[in-house]
Amino acid sequence: MTNDDLAQILETSDGWIKSRTGIERRHIAGPGETTAQMAIEASRAALRVADVDPRDIDLVIVGTVTPNHIFPATACQVQDALGAVRAGAFDLNAVCSGFVYALVTGHQAIASGEHRLVLVVGADTMTKMVDWKDRSTCVLFGDGAAAVLLRASEGSAGVLATLLGSDGSGGDLLTVPAGGSAIPVSAETVERGLHYLRMDGQGVFRFATRVMAQATEQVVKKAGLKMQDIDLIIPHQANLRIISTAAKRLKLPMDRFVVNLQEYGNTSAASVPIGLCEAVESGRINSGQNLVLVSFGSGLTWAAVALRWGVTPSKAISPKYRIWWRWLLYRWAAIHRWLRQAPRRLMVRIIRTAEKQNGH
Ligand code: UT7
Repeated sequence: MTNDDLAQILETSDGWIKSRTGIERRHIAGPGETTAQMAIEASRAALRVADVDPRDIDLVIVGTVTPNHIFPATACQVQDALGAVRAGAFDLNAVCSGFVYALVTGHQAIASGEHRLVLVVGADTMTKMVDWKDRSTCVLFGDGAAAVLLRASEGSAGVLATLLGSDGSGGDLLTVPAGGSAIPVSAETVERGLHYLRMDGQGVFRFATRVMAQATEQVVKKAGLKMQDIDLIIPHQANLRIISTAAKRLKLPMDRFVVNLQEYGNTSAASVPIGLCEAVESGRINSGQNLVLVSFGSGLTWAAVALRWGVTPSKAISPKYRIWWRWLLYRWAAIHRWLRQAPRRLMVRIIRTAEKQNGH
């Protein structure tokens, strides 16, 4: 959906959106398309690129605030659809910082020695949470998903330093008021539009410009590096002005930052991993380079990771037979799900019929 498309349904313009945010278009999930579906697609792509058997995954973490349901976790649906039969799975809610928080959590799970292979996904369909009549928020967001696999390894590459932050006092700056235990959904909350995302744009802007530069500086220092050692920064894609202010504060040129918000808008937890994947695919990231991933979001939350890229991104895709093998595993996972669900459903039907016959 381009800015001009939006201008057809709202009092806005391409000029306003582009000059205030840098966004030119965003991608919208179709009516039946869910966060879980996009997360599954992204995860399968990651498994293909890494040539990994889903049964080897130990843990699935999905950073999201737009899960298919409040529960069960979207991560469990991803785990099931991949046939990751040995994996534990959970969602992580840190809003736009969700992927970087999940990456830190996955890294710690491996560093503890407990796990060897962790799938980390950032996926959100924010366009299902925005009020399409509120021009101050709906123009900003898009839908997306991206995934990475973390594997235990020896050597100097990998995560060098991590940083997580939270300031709950700013929770009201960006929130979905209803739908939780404080204000359960009711006809009245829907009537008042309390199930939509609400934001104090300028408040978030001030916080973001401060925290983005600060978190980057802190994580680089923690990694024992200097700012000039950093080859590429992959920031959360909310607003070009936030990224350029951070660049100025860090005294770094803009070409040191990945910027793709013109194409996708703010995809929440998906924004940093989409930037990472695109930078890998375009050859902008190579083995031995130092990267910083940095994000901020509702909570308030912020998170940063300094890492040394250790794999040579390979253009060669897995051998054909392994692609087929994974395809079979995914089909088997679907059959397996059906085989487990069918007897449970049959049992429920039998019990209900028996209850009806007994007059309950
Ligand atoms: O992941 C974290 C997510 N959130 C963020 O990162 C958001 C951070 N904040 C921002 O990016 C910016 O604050 C916004 C892009 C949301 C807004 O930019 P701004 O420069 O702070 O604009 P504003 O809110 O001060 O609004 C300026 C004017 C207002 O009109 P008046 O009151 O001056 O007459 C708004 O009503 O712009 C108007 N406006 C619009 N006009 C055309 C607000 N939205 C629109 C719009 N099209 N879409």
